[in-house]
Amino acid sequence: MKVVIKDNFELAGKFAAEIISETIRIKPAAVLGLATGSTPLGVYRELIRLHRESGLDFSGVTTFNLDEYAGIKPDDPASYRFFMEENFFRHINLKSKNTNVPDGLAADIPAFCREYEKKLALCGGIDLQLLGLGANSHIAFNEPGSDFKSRTHLQKLDWKTIEDNSRFFGNNPGLVPGHALTMGIGTIMEAKKIILLASGRGKADAVKKSLEGPVTQGVPGSVLQQHPDATFIIDREAAEKLGKAAK
Ligand code: F6R
Repeated sequence: MKVVIKDNFELAGKFAAEIISETIRIKPAAVLGLATGSTPLGVYRELIRLHRESGLDFSGVTTFNLDEYAGIKPDDPASYRFFMEENFFRHINLKSKNTNVPDGLAADIPAFCREYEKKLALCGGIDLQLLGLGANSHIAFNEPGSDFKSRTHLQKLDWKTIEDNSRFFGNNPGLVPGHALTMGIGTIMEAKKIILLASGRGKADAVKKSLEGPVTQGVPGSVLQQHPDATFIIDREAAEKLGKAAK
């Protein structure tokens, strides 16, 4: 696994955006796996800038988001569909029909999850997956203990995740949905290339365990040590506890 340490959040985001834009330039019909949350915001800002100022063309690109809260409407401001539209999709020339975010309102969730996997496979799989990292080291919403072979499924969220994400729900953990639809670890690991972005001291423990600890289902991020082309792009604060991986 490669580790790239940047001085701050902004530079880390720019570096990740450069890798994504290079992927699209080489393969205009690239399939991108995308994340939400605070971490990728700088990446999306930079990609929007590259679209506006350098003509980065998303017209052939297809996207699959990692996750969505169960029971949430797509136009709810706390939904991940809404997040993606607001922070990325509506600012670029990506075709709406080529964007995929799990449906939080799916009536038959297992059937929806199977379809999501099928659609992903029909598109040829993910060329480049962008990931964040939970403070508890989750990737997508695969919480500690998740099976490394898991596919897209309904996941019960850990209390730590509910607390961390309550900032998007008026700081009220009681309003955060208890479950989410998420790509599985097995799904994520099939991406041809993975970049994981992490920023800030709050992620330093999870970064250290994922990069330098044993590969274990107790630390979902550690599975990336087994991926042939995974890069952690982190800022100085998130790298603070690293030993050998920072050398
Ligand atoms: C979001 C996702 C999550 C986040 C993680 C970090 O789509 O898959 O795994 O990447 O919870 O969230 P932030 O970036 O808000 O700290």
